[in-house]
Amino acid sequence: MVFTQVILPRSEFSFPATFAKFAAYVSPLPHGKADRDNAKKYNLQGIDAMPMSSSLFDRVGGKATLSLVHKIFYDKVYVHPWLQQYFTDKPQEILESQQTDFMAQLFGGPKAYAGKVPKVAHQHMVITQELFELRSEILKESLTEAGVSESNIKEWLAVDATFSHALVKETESECTKSYATQPILNFHKPMLC
Ligand code: HEM
Repeated sequence: MVFTQVILPRSEFSFPATFAKFAAYVSPLPHGKADRDNAKKYNLQGIDAMPMSSSLFDRVGGKATLSLVHKIFYDKVYVHPWLQQYFTDKPQEILESQQTDFMAQLFGGPKAYAGKVPKVAHQHMVITQELFELRSEILKESLTEAGVSESNIKEWLAVDATFSHALVKETESECTKSYATQPILNFHKPMLC
């Protein structure tokens, strides 16, 4: 939700002018074309009538859009020569569903995520800044392919990027194991990347 503070000059504090601005401010505004096209394409209900004050979860089209984005995203991740190595023993559908529940919660949707906090889930993985940025690029492509509007993509990626502090580690010495025999995941950039 983006509420821009409206600061009116003193001369505009007459009741009708202020009321007109307020009425225009709170009325439902149309959304991005991509969001409306996406709503039609994937049969998502109610996007056209959604007021701007709704959560990012509602504005992108709810769980149906998050699931679609994460299906497109993990389809790419699971064949990417560098990223796929981190996921060899993890079923893709589980990652898609965990990521969907996690982001849904962050975007103001239902609280259904029951997994680990990202810092702990990734504590045994070397995730370099370069790898983190590569993942963000793939996520951006996936959001575009799913028809999410540019402004919503910007918001989505901004939320996602806040995790770099918790996740990025350049060396194995920064990693932590949950149990003594847990392997540290550290895969170097393949030559063909
Ligand atoms: C290059 C960056 C990343 C890599 C290589 C990566 C890799 C992984 C892997 C391998 C898992 C499975 C862990 C397990 O089940 O043991 C996982 C889980 C998960 N990841 Fe990531 N991840 C990355 C970035 C992110 C980011 C930025 C987020 C959040 C915005 C995130 C959120 C999650 C969540 C919520 C889970 C499920 C955790 C659980 O419940 O155990 N990941 N990730």
